[in-house]
Amino acid sequence: MGRLDGKNCIVTGAAGGIGLETAILFAQNGASVMMSDVNTGQLEIALAKAKKLVPGARIESHQADVSVEPEVENLVAALDSWGGVDVIFNNAGIMHMDDGDAISCTEDVWDLTQKINVKGVWYGCKHAVLSFRKHNKKKASVINTASVVALVGSATAQVAYTASKGAVLAMTRELAMVHAREGFRFNSLCPAPLNTPLLQNFLGDDQAKRHRREIHFPTGRFGEAIEQAQMVVFLASDESSFVIGQEMIVDGGMTRAYVTPEGPSVPAPLNNAFGR
Ligand SMILES: NC(=O)c1ccc[n+]([C@@H]2O[C@H](COP(=O)([O-])OP(=O)(O)OC[C@H]3O[C@@H](n4cnc5c(N)ncnc54)[C@H](O)[C@@H]3O)[C@@H](O)[C@H]2O)c1
Repeated sequence: MGRLDGKNCIVTGAAGGIGLETAILFAQNGASVMMSDVNTGQLEIALAKAKKLVPGARIESHQADVSVEPEVENLVAALDSWGGVDVIFNNAGIMHMDDGDAISCTEDVWDLTQKINVKGVWYGCKHAVLSFRKHNKKKASVINTASVVALVGSATAQVAYTASKGAVLAMTRELAMVHAREGFRFNSLCPAPLNTPLLQNFLGDDQAKRHRREIHFPTGRFGEAIEQAQMVVFLASDESSFVIGQEMIVDGGMTRAYVTPEGPSVPAPLNNAFGR
C-alpha cells in the first residue's frame, strides 16, 4: 500500500532539482504524476529518467509556463480525464543572476521574479482549487515552495527573490485558512540552499561565495533535492491531515544555528535521478 495511492499529483518545475526528485518519490509511493516545466527539452529528459526509475507508474509530462494563466489552466485540465487533481506541488521558481540589493536590483529582474515565483504559485493555487471543487474533492493538498530566505535575512542580497518567497509564505498561510473547511490543505516548503542547478549555477566555481554559505550549515553541507522531496511526500499524503498553513523548514538546522561546528561535513544522501 503506497502512501499516495490513488492520488493524482502535479509537480511544476519538474525538469530538475526538487521537482524531479519529488515526481519520482510521488510515483514510488503510488501516485499518478504529471510532471510540468517550461523547459521542454529538460522535461522530456526528466520524464524518461522518472519512468525508468519507476516502471509501471503513471507518469506523464505537460509543458507549461506557470506565469501564463491559460497554460496553468490547461495543465490542471489535463488531469480531468484522470479524475481531477488531488495534489499540486507549486515548485517552479527562479533566482535571477542579476538579482541584488535595493539599489542594484533592476525593475525588470524584480518584475520577472515576482511574475514567476509569486504569480505562478497563485495561478497554480487558483486552478487547483477550481479543479478540487469541479471534481468534488473532500480532501486535497497544495504545497508551495518558498525558501529559508523568507525567514532569515541574507547579507548576500537577492532582494527580488527574497521578497517573492516571503509572498509565497504569506499567500499560502492565508489560503490555508480560506479553504480549511473544504478539506483543502495548503502548506509551504522552506528549503535551505541546495545542491541543485538553481543555486549551483549561481555559485559556479567561486569557492569564497560557496564557503560564505556552507559555513552556516551545522552539517557542513548543502541540502540535497531528495531531502526536500521526502517532506513533500509527507505533506501530499493523508499522514499530514492535521498539518495546515505551516512553513515546513527543511534546512539541516541552518535557521537554528548561532555558531556551527567545525570538522568534516556529514555525508549527503543520494538523489534518485537528479545529479546522475
Ligand atoms: N536550490 C536551492 O538552493 C533552493 C533553496 C530554496 C528554495 N528553492 C526553490 O525550490 C524550487 C525548485 O528549485 P530547484 O532548486 O529544484 O531548482 P531548479 O532550477 O533545478 O528547478 C527549477 C525548475 O523550475 C523551472 N521553471 C523556471 N521558470 C519556470 C516557469 N516560468 N514555468 C515553469 N517552470 C519554470 C525550471 O525550468 C527548472 O526546471 C524553486 O522555487 C526555488 O526557488 C531552491
